Amino acid sequence: KESGLGAAPYLNLFQDFWCPPVYVKGVNKFQKHFDAKDNDVFVASIPKSGTTWLKALTFAIANHQRFSSFDNHPLLSSNPHELVPFPEFMYSYDLHDQIISLSNMSEPRLLSTHLPFPSLPQSITKSNCKIIYISRNPFDTFVSAWEFFTKIKSVSLPEFTLEEAFEKYCNGITVFGPWWSHMLGYWKESITRPNKVLFLKYEDLKEDTVFHVKRIAEFLDSPITQGGESTAVIENIIKLCRFETMKNLEVNKSGHIYNITENKHFFRKGEIGDWINYFSPSMIEKLSKIIEEKLGGSGLSFKVHS
Ligand code: A3P
Repeated sequence: KESGLGAAPYLNLFQDFWCPPVYVKGVNKFQKHFDAKDNDVFVASIPKSGTTWLKALTFAIANHQRFSSFDNHPLLSSNPHELVPFPEFMYSYDLHDQIISLSNMSEPRLLSTHLPFPSLPQSITKSNCKIIYISRNPFDTFVSAWEFFTKIKSVSLPEFTLEEAFEKYCNGITVFGPWWSHMLGYWKESITRPNKVLFLKYEDLKEDTVFHVKRIAEFLDSPITQGGESTAVIENIIKLCRFETMKNLEVNKSGHIYNITENKHFFRKGEIGDWINYFSPSMIEKLSKIIEEKLGGSGLSFKVHS
């Protein structure tokens, strides 16, 4: 089965999720060869949910003692996707030498994945490594994905109109989707194994960043929340990782990741509710119904306005 989203590559249904064919090899290798360590930390998400922001925050929190100077911090000169890489993409593009070899990374290793929970390598689900998942309301995620995949002209492009892409999204056909099973997989796991999976929402993180940075730090057993300096450290981390700071860094204005995507495309508007500029009344009605149908009864719901 094949389909696509926006200007994204065609997607193949692979192990119950929609996978760009270019990543199938990398996903297979990741599942077969990746050896998780108990102190690994994974940032997980479906694309366009706020992965870049969560990577930056997680990196800054986990390394706050190693990089205590905020004038000379690695996040000022490296894109978060370089510092917290996706093994499935590294395996796909054979990028071990180009970015950083997984076995040479300093510990705790901070890594990332877009795979749905049931498709994670067994060593991740069975070891004590931790997963921080970021979700976002499907309205904004759809618009963010539409804008992003229309801009990254890296692969052969089936062109879709916004309306066609929306139909596909409503049928679950989106990169690493269906989006509802992606979210629900991690959501359920975060309820049964709260020490294994921390489930976050982009909207909550926006609304009370301090509270959620503390939650992340506690989840990672970071000493950051202790001691007299803690408020200043947390404030500095938030300032460093905020949208305006990151978007305006030279590395994020001019750099590339995986040789295909310009870093600037990871920073568009960074708001809640931009979907209102794209959705017709019938689209609003349709997606609201699907959200109710798919997520109703799960306890998972989203704010859609700021
Ligand atoms: P928009 O397209 O709505 O602006 P991902 O990192 O998963 O690819 O998600 C990208 C979305 O997160 C984009 O949303 C992007 O602008 C937003 N984003 C990136 N960095 C951010 C930050 N530091 N703070 C808040 N939002 C951020």
